[in-house]
Formats: sequence, structure tokens, C-alpha cells
Amino acid sequence: MSAVLVVGSANADLVVPVERRPAGGETVLGGDTTVSPGGKGANTAAAAGRLGADVALLGAVGDDAHGRLLRESLTAAGAGTQYLRTVDRPTGIAYITVTPDGENSILVSPGANSALEPADLTDDVFDGVRVLVTSLEVPLPTVERAVRQARSKGVRVLLNLSPAAELSGETLAALDVLLVNEHEAGYLLAEEDADPRRLLDLGPRAAVVTRGAAGAVVVEDGKSTTVESPRVEAVDTTGAGDAFAGALAASLARGADLVEAARLAVRVAAVSVTRHGAQPSYPTAAELE
Ligand code: RIB
Ligand code: NA
Repeated sequence: MSAVLVVGSANADLVVPVERRPAGGETVLGGDTTVSPGGKGANTAAAAGRLGADVALLGAVGDDAHGRLLRESLTAAGAGTQYLRTVDRPTGIAYITVTPDGENSILVSPGANSALEPADLTDDVFDGVRVLVTSLEVPLPTVERAVRQARSKGVRVLLNLSPAAELSGETLAALDVLLVNEHEAGYLLAEEDADPRRLLDLGPRAAVVTRGAAGAVVVEDGKSTTVESPRVEAVDTTGAGDAFAGALAASLARGADLVEAARLAVRVAAVSVTRHGAQPSYPTAAELE
């Protein structure tokens, strides 16, 4: 029984620092590779766990060293792994390059994440759950089923539209909170820099748009509220959006309103970008003080 249930991916992140990214047909030499626990779902669960939330990840990994790395990282962060299945596929891998300005680009090989099926969402996984968080690195039918089931059980539904994908009108209308970055908002609205309030026309009850160093915008009841981010020196932005999602869910599960939750989430995301990696960079509640 967990207050926050995350349905999503778990990946090993193979991170290579580069001066610049290779173009097609080109070879570029980078720095040493580090292997660290990642994946949008596991990151979200780890971020919430670090903050002391009662959280579990429903996902899939392989029977390999990367799968064990993820289990250990989630456990260390205080996130439950009782719904983390071991399947007969390699654990997902994200090939990540990070440039000196802290920007990343990511290629994901989903592996075991592809084996996460709608049938894995048995009714009992929602027992005691207050907030469902899901993201789109696992098969869409699984995400849609999770959203539908959560909705029918009165569980608050938060969807992080990452990586951007097309959702049915039914799924969008079942969301309590749609979480997007500016790029994903542009994708959904088919327009760059569109008014974030237009996101509510797509069906969700509320939306949060993350804007990197510029913080976030919360859209609710037809009005938008800007939440400023503390100024920090970014070294690696990988997983900052997932940290935001985890913190938002942890705070909502404790009864905070959405603006209050977003204030915590921008702080958590800001700390995460000052340190390398995804999960290893997430702060505890004590560290935030
Ligand atoms: O959002 C960041 C995450 O995207 C990384 O940890 C990587 O695994 C990819 O899933
Ligand atoms: Na980081």
C-alpha cells in the first residue's frame, strides 16, 4: 500500500560527457562513461521517496546487473519495488550525451519496459493510493489502462507527457494534472509559446508547464500562476523533469494544493541540475532546508 504509485520506466543511464554531439556518419570522442540509475518512472519514484513519500514503482527490469542497480537505487531512495517485475528482456538503457552547458540528449532502448502490459495493473495495486503518476516510456495501452483505473477508483491522476506522444481525448480528459515542459506543450498545442491556459481545452483539470531556469507555470481554474525557480549553476539537467514530477506527487499526496506542490517541485528540480546523473542527484527533504 503506497500513497503514490508510479507506473513507468526504469533504465540504466550510460552517460558520456561530450564537447559536441556527433552528426550522422561522424565519430566524436567523449569522456568516461558513467552508469547510473534512471528511467522516467524510476526517477519519479526515487525523487518522491527521497522526500519521504510512501511511494512504489510499477515497472519492469531484466534479470541483469542494470536491473539490480535500479532495485538498489529505488530501495535506497525509500521507494517500494514490490510491483517491479523481472522479465525476460534486458533492462532498458538510455544512451545519454551531456555537453558542457549541462544540456543532454537521450536515446532510449526500452528493453524490459516494453514488457509492461495492461494486465500488470491488477486492481489491488491501487489500494490506498492517493496519487498515480505516469509517463510515456512504457507502452501506451498500459498507461491508458492505469489512467482509466485510477480515475474509476477516485485516485488523483498526474501524467508527465514525456517523451511527447499523442494521447486520446479520453485519456487527456481523465487527467487531474497534465505535466509538460515547454517543448511538450508546444507539441500538444501545435504552436510554440502558446498560452498555457489552452492546455485545459484538451481536457485535463489542471496543467503544469515546466520552464527550466524560469520555473513553472500552474494552470488551474482558468488562471495561470508563475512559480519562480531558485537560480542555480546547472551541470546536468538529466531527469530534472522527473524530479519535478516526483516532488509534485509527493506534495499532492500530503494534501498540498497544486501551486504549493509546484513550489516544492521547482526547488527539488533546481537542486537536481546542480549534480550529475538523475536519481543520484535528487535531494532529501533535509537537504532542501
Ligand atoms: O528523463 C530522464 C530520463 O530519461 C533518464 O534517466 C533516461 O533514462 C531517460 O529515460
Ligand atoms: Na542531475
